[in-house]
Amino acid sequence: MKVIAIDGPSGSGKGTIAKEVAKRLNYTYVDTGAMYRCVSLMSLRKNLEENEKEKIVGLLENADIKLTNEGKVYLNGEDVSDLIRTPEVTHRVSKISSIIELREVMRKKQRELATKDNIVMEGRDITTEVFPDADYKFYLDASVEERTNRRYKQNIEKGIDCTYESIKASIEERDYDDMHRPVGALTRTNEQNYIDSSNMSIEEVISTIMNIVGE
Ligand code: DC
Repeated sequence: MKVIAIDGPSGSGKGTIAKEVAKRLNYTYVDTGAMYRCVSLMSLRKNLEENEKEKIVGLLENADIKLTNEGKVYLNGEDVSDLIRTPEVTHRVSKISSIIELREVMRKKQRELATKDNIVMEGRDITTEVFPDADYKFYLDASVEERTNRRYKQNIEKGIDCTYESIKASIEERDYDDMHRPVGALTRTNEQNYIDSSNMSIEEVISTIMNIVGE
């Protein structure tokens, strides 16, 4: 089975790009951030503390997480697509994704997905830890300012009350957590195709990837 792995910081457009590339190639799209977000949501619902590692890992072991190519997320049959994007879930996921044992179970689940289908998988450690031998590896980047602008515009369109500064601070905090976790940290390597999308349109990024994968 073929694997296209895409890593990058939050707000770099990985989701939009990976979803569209998967659609054009007729591959399965896998949003690994959504999988971590499901565990975060479950831990909040069970009133677990962030440091109750064993219980948090247990939640994942017993969870049925289904991702669709359209980006919908089902947790034990319930549509949680919107619930996993609340600020509360987002804040916690950044912390609990540092649990090493959780990452081990998560990786196993993620690797299993590539035994059935060709996949486009996006996250933080896909090119380095989950599929270091992926057929194609990409690191999708954008400046903090551009990522803040994009998220700010999205929020305003959705009617979410926020300030530019608060979004920038939260992106910077997540970048720090993502790049400094002891295992599965977001890292740039020579093997990744590096794309800085700060001044590129979505279509330009997609065409760049499609050219590299030879379609
Ligand atoms: O891509 P996202 O913002 O939905 O990811 C949510 C969180 O999950 C983010 O804080 C980093 C973490 N994550 C991770 O540690 N490893 C991955 N492969 C994907 C996401």
